[in-house]
Amino acid sequence: MALNVVIMAAGKGTRMKSAQPKVLHRLAGRSLLQHVLDCAAGLGAGRVVVVTGHGAATVEASVAGSGAVCVRQEPQLGTGHAVQQAVPALDAACDTTLILYGDVPLIRSETAAALVAACGGNALALLTVELADPSGYGRIVRAGDAVRAIVEHKDASADERAICEVYSGIMAAPTAALVRWVRALRNDNAQREFYLTDVVALAVAEGVPVVARSVADPMEVEGVNSPAQLADLERRLQRRHADALLEAGVRLADPARLDVRGTLVCGSDVEIDVNCIFDGEVTLADGARIGAHCVLRDAQIGADAVIHPFTHIEGATVGAGALVGPYARLRPGAELGPEVHVGNFVEVKNSRLAAGAKANHLAYLGDATVGERVNYGAGSITANYDGAHKHRTVIGDDAHIGSNCVLVAPVTVGAGATIGGGSTIARDAPAGALTLARARQVTIAGWQRPRKASKQG
Ligand code: UD1
Ligand code: MG
Repeated sequence: MALNVVIMAAGKGTRMKSAQPKVLHRLAGRSLLQHVLDCAAGLGAGRVVVVTGHGAATVEASVAGSGAVCVRQEPQLGTGHAVQQAVPALDAACDTTLILYGDVPLIRSETAAALVAACGGNALALLTVELADPSGYGRIVRAGDAVRAIVEHKDASADERAICEVYSGIMAAPTAALVRWVRALRNDNAQREFYLTDVVALAVAEGVPVVARSVADPMEVEGVNSPAQLADLERRLQRRHADALLEAGVRLADPARLDVRGTLVCGSDVEIDVNCIFDGEVTLADGARIGAHCVLRDAQIGADAVIHPFTHIEGATVGAGALVGPYARLRPGAELGPEVHVGNFVEVKNSRLAAGAKANHLAYLGDATVGERVNYGAGSITANYDGAHKHRTVIGDDAHIGSNCVLVAPVTVGAGATIGGGSTIARDAPAGALTLARARQVTIAGWQRPRKASKQG
């Protein structure tokens, strides 16, 4: 069924006390609005309309490229007024319109799809939730089983305020009827606002069926209004990520100290120590072990690889059985083969290390191709950048690079070559030979250190 989605994102978010529009604050690595846009994408919506107002330019810039259309609501005269602004941007060929809030991030596509199905292009379908403390919310007023109206808290009588079934803010409506209803809204209420919720009474008056679907998981319709609520939702969401991983057999040292800001896919017998952050798409193969305080973003870690504490990995792959860290940094394009060792304070960027290669201490490999079983000494670096261009360093299998070498790219070190420690290698070094490029050691016998002239008394 062709679907319009309207995302309301014009509100100020005063309680965030932030210069940044509320809907751009991040939850699990994505903006609140992005979560909602992803939900709309999951529904295969034909048209997505974002209603902007406060911080409109910033919100619109963040939406650019998503395919969504933005309409401005200035000033903000209520949720019904917001939908009025969206009307010209709706696709009339989409017979159902779904209303979502930009600050209610965890609504699942499945839940929204069920509401759209309940609407069926001819009923008004409301997503509701039962709350122990319903204060502040619009109450679902029924006559018998039938929904008659939504009454806002500020307009509600004492009897109505006792109702615990509340409107979540999410509805699905027949597009043509919604357009008709929002045009008919009035603002003769306690807040002098155009309430979208008044469409319920209009539907009832027209004899259009109104159905209420209650959400099974209240977290799906929880809104974010303050930093405290955002942090609280983040922790509960992360706890769910952790519980799902534990359920799948991942051994987390502490489920309360894990952050997944993207997708984390784990094989069997994976262990994750405390305070790790997984961003983007991360895969940990069977038996991988991640030490404490690691940050991994868009990374694939091979089977039985061990990532020691305080390691940063971004845009990199780590082969089976490799050892990385502590305090290592793998930057985009780092590809470590099986059984590679990369130790403390080693930085690798856009470089391939073949099986069994080792760079164990204090080294830099940038734009390099490193053969099998190469030993890359402490303090050695590739000088890959001449101030204008990057150049490659190629090191053949079984080469041994001593400590404190500078490999000035473009340069090739042949297979089995040995480079003496402290060498600056600016020309290719042949295979199988020892190459040294440093001043010869000399000893000057009987040399006297300078002394201060002794003072005359
Ligand atoms: C609204 C509902 C209420 C429901 C509650 C759920 C109405 C009249 N009331 O109340 O029944 O229980 O949500 O959270 O709809 N917004 C705009 N433009 C505006 C006003 C609001 O874009 O002019 C956006 C806000 O940014 C926010 C959403 O609409 O994302 C809801 O607005 P809010 O002021 O929080 O509505 P509530 O009074 O909480
Ligand atoms: Mg609200």
